[in-house]
Amino acid sequence: MAKRILVCAAWPYVHAVSHLGNIICMLSADVIARFYRQLGYEVEMVSGSDQHGAQMEFEAKKLGITPKELVDMNHKIVSDVILNKLKFSFTNYSFTTHPEHIKFVREFYKKVWDNGYIEVKDETLPYCDGCKRFLPDRFVVGKCPHCGNDKALGNQCDECGRILDPTDLVEPKCSECGATPIFKDTKTGYFDLPKIVPKLWEYVDTKKAEWQPRVVHFTERWFEEGLNQRPITRDLSWGIPAPFPGLEDKCIYVWAEAVLGYLSTVVMRGKFKEFWQEPIEKSYFCLGKDNIPFHTILLPAFILAHGNINVPDIIVSNEYLGFGGKQFSKTRGTGVWLNEIIDTVPSYDIWRYYLYRIYPENKDTDFSWKDFAKKVNSELVANFSNFVNRVINLLNKYYDGKVPEYEAVLADDKKLLLKIKKCKEKVGQLIKQGKIREPLDEIMLLSKAGNEYLQSKEPWKNKTNQPTLRVCAQLLKVLSVLLHPYLPEATEKLQKLLNVDNLLWENIDAVPEKVEKPVHLFDNIDVEKVKKKIEENRKKTGGKLLEEKEEKKEAEGTLFKKFDFRVAKVLEVKDHPKADKLFVMQIDLGTLGKRQIVAGIKGHYTPEELVGKQIIVIANLKPAMLRDEESNGMLLAGVEGKGKEQRIGLVIAPNSAPGDKVSLKGESQEPAHEMTINDFAKLKIATKDGKVVCCGKPLATEKEDLSAEKVSDGACIE
Ligand code: MF3
Ligand code: ZN
Repeated sequence: MAKRILVCAAWPYVHAVSHLGNIICMLSADVIARFYRQLGYEVEMVSGSDQHGAQMEFEAKKLGITPKELVDMNHKIVSDVILNKLKFSFTNYSFTTHPEHIKFVREFYKKVWDNGYIEVKDETLPYCDGCKRFLPDRFVVGKCPHCGNDKALGNQCDECGRILDPTDLVEPKCSECGATPIFKDTKTGYFDLPKIVPKLWEYVDTKKAEWQPRVVHFTERWFEEGLNQRPITRDLSWGIPAPFPGLEDKCIYVWAEAVLGYLSTVVMRGKFKEFWQEPIEKSYFCLGKDNIPFHTILLPAFILAHGNINVPDIIVSNEYLGFGGKQFSKTRGTGVWLNEIIDTVPSYDIWRYYLYRIYPENKDTDFSWKDFAKKVNSELVANFSNFVNRVINLLNKYYDGKVPEYEAVLADDKKLLLKIKKCKEKVGQLIKQGKIREPLDEIMLLSKAGNEYLQSKEPWKNKTNQPTLRVCAQLLKVLSVLLHPYLPEATEKLQKLLNVDNLLWENIDAVPEKVEKPVHLFDNIDVEKVKKKIEENRKKTGGKLLEEKEEKKEAEGTLFKKFDFRVAKVLEVKDHPKADKLFVMQIDLGTLGKRQIVAGIKGHYTPEELVGKQIIVIANLKPAMLRDEESNGMLLAGVEGKGKEQRIGLVIAPNSAPGDKVSLKGESQEPAHEMTINDFAKLKIATKDGKVVCCGKPLATEKEDLSAEKVSDGACIE
């Protein structure tokens, strides 16, 4: 089998500039690609900008430019940072409006049509008579049935974050002209997924032994829920024209063409046969967990329906990266966007390092400025960079830069040499399995062990006949190879210092002979300066400033006090007659009397579980009509994950009494007359150490601290 590896990273949408959370999958891809190159493989690493679909049209229209202008502009900004700043080593980073991609996609689906996998069906879809066009989900706006936000979109409510369907919306309207959509006949091409299921099942069966449990689980769930025919064309103008007879005025569904980018980019490299048709050692697909079924079911299904092309091997999925305990959000100014990191640090390896250290391998993780400073300064600088510095300094001072020979190693030296050997083996194994963060943890531990060894041996006291500095020089060489996939710039510098020029694993153990004069690899960073740089930029462009400042915390405390949070006992729970996901609940608020609220927790709780429970409700929230049912308050719940993986658990106070007040522990509330959902959305409330915390303090009644059921630490309270 040819020594070839294909590494693919999911294609970010470019309706806007991507943020750091959008490029997590490129971190995985780059480590895998660089690692295999070090093993002597020929590696193709591809991805690009996902540029079609309704969202692009939508954003372009807002800015008064064409979709093409918008996506080209954003592709340019994003790809510059990805390739030239963060140095992700793509062999082709393309975009889906590329003529070669379009040509490839059309030919591909023509073949799928010829093979009998596309069926044309008549359908009725929301259509706007004012705009004279069919409305994609997010062009239908209306009132969110869960939180009452009257600007919810047909696919999602940005206020409460819930996933919606256009038919969920109360009083749906066309977002462009305000007209009420009508339903109209059209034709849609469907991909015959059921027809390919036997082959697909066989595919999953042969691959799943090497997949992460999460990947297997998500994939099997799709199978269990039944694989139906899926629409593969859309009534859009911004996309790749469908090559199907009778559907010439439709476009190919954006997902169905973007996944073929992995193929078209390799065609552009002139290596399609070598990497997609001949057997290769392995292909890796790196992506966020929400994209799993598109890669384990749809992409292989398309490929199998086409024939004569390899199916994906390994799926490397990651969880989500949050920011300061919240989801990234442009409107709230929460997060860091790719263009904002330009010129913030002397070496982009610093950003790489922190992102790899918080890489969400097994669970969601969180970017925090404090943690950024801590990890860079105490690990990258104090541990690694300092170790390098000390060894190079000592070699210069005592041996004139020449790495000394030694006669015999003692127990301590052997111990470290053994550690080095074990670490190498482990790191290699882990990366092959698609692990990203764990190997880095191992390498940093090895560097720490080196530091401690040097400290305990004190070679500056006993200069002669000690193998210490030679062992250390050997370790530096090993580190320069092991760390290369994570820190390409710093390891190149380190190799220059060591006078070696070989990142290949087969030469990993060769001990350097002579070292150069010391230079610092990294210096401490001042995170306040990094933040300032970003803020200055935002001031210029009118963006929201970064959150997380002390005075902001105080403002949050003041806002918190304005809510009238109360303990409420659930008396009765009924299904909402007009909405699938809602309960209508009667609650007892003690001295405030009894009330009705509407809550979107169906599917997460049964009515039996709820009755008698003591939950927390905002009692001074503006009343709302949710699909003709009045809601006089909102309950507090912890929310974790998204979509099908979402978990919701109520905030409870079992040992208090209905009507009891809730405040930050040791403080009291000064409730305003009426508060809104938007006010509440500004608060950052989350679970921490089993408690429910805001502004660094637990929420409590006079009798107890509150807790949230069913969710783990770090869940947002909504
Ligand atoms: N643009 C999609 C997203 O951000 C991912 C597309 S991956 C691809 O969720 F392979 F289809 F391109
Ligand atoms: Zn909502």
